[in-house]
Amino acid sequence: MKILVTGGTGYIGSHTVVELQKKGFDVIIVDALFNSRINTLDGIEKITGIRPEFESFDLADQRLTDDFFARHNDIKGIIHFAAHKAVGESVEQPIKYYRNNLDSLMNILESMQKYNVPNLVFSSSCTVYGQPDAEHLPVSENAPIKKAESPYGNTKQIAEEIISETIAAFKGLNAIALRYFNPVGAHDSAIIGELPLGVPNNLMPYITQTGYGIRECLKVYGSDYPTPDGTAIRDYIHIMDLAKAHVIAVERMLNEKMKKPFEIFNLGTGTGYSVLEVIKSFEKVSGLKLNYEIVGRRAGDIEKVWADPTFSNNELGWKAERTLDEMTASAWKWEQAYRSL
Ligand code: NAD
Ligand code: WQD
Repeated sequence: MKILVTGGTGYIGSHTVVELQKKGFDVIIVDALFNSRINTLDGIEKITGIRPEFESFDLADQRLTDDFFARHNDIKGIIHFAAHKAVGESVEQPIKYYRNNLDSLMNILESMQKYNVPNLVFSSSCTVYGQPDAEHLPVSENAPIKKAESPYGNTKQIAEEIISETIAAFKGLNAIALRYFNPVGAHDSAIIGELPLGVPNNLMPYITQTGYGIRECLKVYGSDYPTPDGTAIRDYIHIMDLAKAHVIAVERMLNEKMKKPFEIFNLGTGTGYSVLEVIKSFEKVSGLKLNYEIVGRRAGDIEKVWADPTFSNNELGWKAERTLDEMTASAWKWEQAYRSL
C-alpha cells in the first residue's frame, strides 16, 4: 500500500514516515524543502533500512501537483503535513500563509477527486480552539472553535472547512483531521528530530538549546496566569505517540472503519503541564540547572489548554503513553546528538 506523505522530511512527517515503514507501508514523500533538509531521508533510511521515494516541488503549484498525481496512480492515501507553521511569521506575512497552506491543500483535494485517491489525513491543530472556556477544559472535539489568534491558526480552521465542504461535494472522499496539541521530543535513536532552524519559537527547543549553551537564557513568558504556579499550561505530546496515531488513522481509513466521511480527533495526552513544570522536568533528566528569567506574557499566548483524548482513545484505540520526563529526555538527547554531528 503506497502512502503519500507531504511535508515528509519535516519534523512530524519524518517521524510518521518511520512508523509507516515499520508497519509495512510503501511511502513516497513530497516536500519543497522550505523548512527541512533532504538528508532527513538518510536518517529515515538509517532507522528503518528503507529509503522512501522522494520528490521535491511546491504543492501550492497546481500544475506540478496535478502532474505528480498523473504519474503516480498507486497512491492509496495521503497524510498532508505540508504547511508553513510559524505563528509569529504568519502575523507578519499573512498572504504567504494563506497562499501556501490553502493552495497546497486545495491542489491535493482536487487531485484526490481527479485521480481517485480516496483517503486524506490532515494536520490540524488545537490552535483552532483558541482559549477554551473553563467549562470546555479539558477540550474535546466538539468544543467551540474560537476566532483564530493568528493567520496561521486561521489557515487550519479554514482548511477544516474546505475539507468538510469538499467531501460533501465529492462523494467517495474520506478525511480525518488530527488536531495536535504540543508535539515535542524526537525519535528514540536521536537520528531524526526537529531541525533547529533559526531562533526557536517553541518552548522545548529553546530549553534544550539553553541547556546546551547555544542560548544564554530562557525567557519564561508570564508568571501571572491563573494557574497553580502562574505560568501557562499546555498539553505536550511525544512525537512518537503522535506519529503512531497517524498510522492508526491511515489504517482506519484503508480498513473502512470510519463512522462518517470526515472525522476529527484530538491528539493530546489529557494532562497539562506548566512552563515551570517542563523546566523542572528538563533539569531532572539532564542534571543541569537551567538559566531562565521570568518576563512579560507573549502576545497571542493563551493561558491554558489540554486535551480530552477520550474520543481518540476509544475510537482510534490510541493513547499517548510517554511521560513528560520521557519527552524532555528525548528532546535533550536529540539536542546533544544533533550538536555533535
Ligand atoms: P515542519 O515545518 O517541520 O514540516 C512541514 C514540511 O512541509 C517542511 O518540510 C516544509 O518544507 C514542507 N512544506 C511546507 N509547504 C510546502 C509546500 N507548499 N509544498 C511542499 N512542501 C511544503 O512542520 P511540522 O512541525 O512537522 O508540522 C507538520 C504539520 O503539522 C503542519 O501542517 C503544521 O501546521 C502542523 N502542526 C504542527 C505543530 C507543531 O507544534 N509542530 C502543532 C500542530 C500542528
Ligand atoms: C508553549 C508555552 C509559551 C517559548 C505553538 C503554536 C501552535 C502549535 C504549537 C503549530 C507557552 C511558553 C515558549 C519560550 C516560553 N504550532 N514559552 N518561552 O505557543 O503553545 O503553540 O506551537 O501548529 O499553533 O501556537 O507552543 O512551545 O511556543 O509555547 O515561556 O521561549 O511555553 O508562552 O506558554 P504554543 P510554544
